[in-house]
Amino acid sequence: MASVTFKGVAKRFGGFTAVSGLNLEIRDKEFLVLLGPSGCGKTTTMRMVAGLEDVSEGEIFIGERKVNDVLPKYRDVAMVFQSYALYPHLTVEDNIGYPLKIRKVPKAERRRIVGEVAKRVELETMLGRLPKELSGGQRQRVALARAIVRTPKVFLMDEPLSNLDAKLRVQMRAELKHLQHELSVTTIYVTHDQIEAMTLADRVAVMNKGVIEQLDTPKEIYNNPKTLFVAGFIGSPPMNLIEGEVKDGVFLGAGGLRVEGLKSATVAKAVIGVRPEDVKVVGAKEQGINLAAPIYSVELTGESTLVSVHAGDQLVTMRADKNFVGDFDQMIGVRAAPDRVFLFDQQSRARVAV
Ligand SMILES: Nc1ncnc2c1ncn2[C@@H]1O[C@H](COP(=O)(O)OP(=O)(O)OP(=O)(O)O)[C@@H](O)[C@H]1O
Ligand SMILES: [Mg+2]
Repeated sequence: MASVTFKGVAKRFGGFTAVSGLNLEIRDKEFLVLLGPSGCGKTTTMRMVAGLEDVSEGEIFIGERKVNDVLPKYRDVAMVFQSYALYPHLTVEDNIGYPLKIRKVPKAERRRIVGEVAKRVELETMLGRLPKELSGGQRQRVALARAIVRTPKVFLMDEPLSNLDAKLRVQMRAELKHLQHELSVTTIYVTHDQIEAMTLADRVAVMNKGVIEQLDTPKEIYNNPKTLFVAGFIGSPPMNLIEGEVKDGVFLGAGGLRVEGLKSATVAKAVIGVRPEDVKVVGAKEQGINLAAPIYSVELTGESTLVSVHAGDQLVTMRADKNFVGDFDQMIGVRAAPDRVFLFDQQSRARVAV
């Protein structure tokens, strides 16, 4: 069991900087998710912890031990990749037991440990099968079991669920979360799926272009995004983000969008943000609305109805009741909850107080 600490870590590939200024302490037993779009540096960060990639600058510690110059096999981390990387000619039992075999654990002991771990991931009846005789989810669990048998100090999981279909992913997500709770092993988990990040993480590090933009609990990331990027990346449908200008405490956007009460705002060119569930559909003639516009689309999702209108050329989406009834082009009023409105500086992309 151990913490993982990055101190001023950077990774360059020739002239290209993939990761920079990385300062992060992952606590002992913590489930930390690295979340960000494709190419932001997630895998590179993981590979540096595993020792599969050199560090260009800074230091990485596992527990108290600096590992920059420690060979991968002496770092005591177990990695689960997106591709399961199972040995096709070995049975499930031998695949799971492989890390023990190369550590020269005696056969009887190996059988016992593999049996226990297989039970944990519900594979105890499949031990004699070959990988090709398994479903994707079962293969995924073999890869997971193979990481677990070693009881490493740290788990590194790089998009381990991305090859599974949607339903299996949700199921495996819950299993993973439970398993990590049971095993209490420090875990760094990479994904670009924000729902996966929100549901699994103790804390989420949101990465963008090689830099961590925010490190917080899922709740804070969702309710208190510190940058425009984080605000737009988390949430489905995403936060409504609309450009405009602030003057005398009033935000004015295209299509007559108007938000008052921003007295302490210090920027002129701004982006206003509000989540779909914090905007209400009201009558077009009601007092104090932010926008009156014709309905552009109505989408029933099952548990709610998404209603969209235009503010200039930008779409504003609201999450209305599942029983909402409305027609195309019907005029409606849009009203945001005043305390759920965020303001960002167009230039710096940082959040500003309102
Ligand atoms: N060996 C390499 N040589 C040169 N550039 C690399 C190398 N490995 C990664 N990169 C670049 O570094 C950046 C970060 O790559 P990385 O694989 O860490 O992204 P990622 O966040 O894991 O993305 P994805 O979600 O697509 O897996 C990318 O722009 C990538 O092209
Ligand atoms: Mg990757």
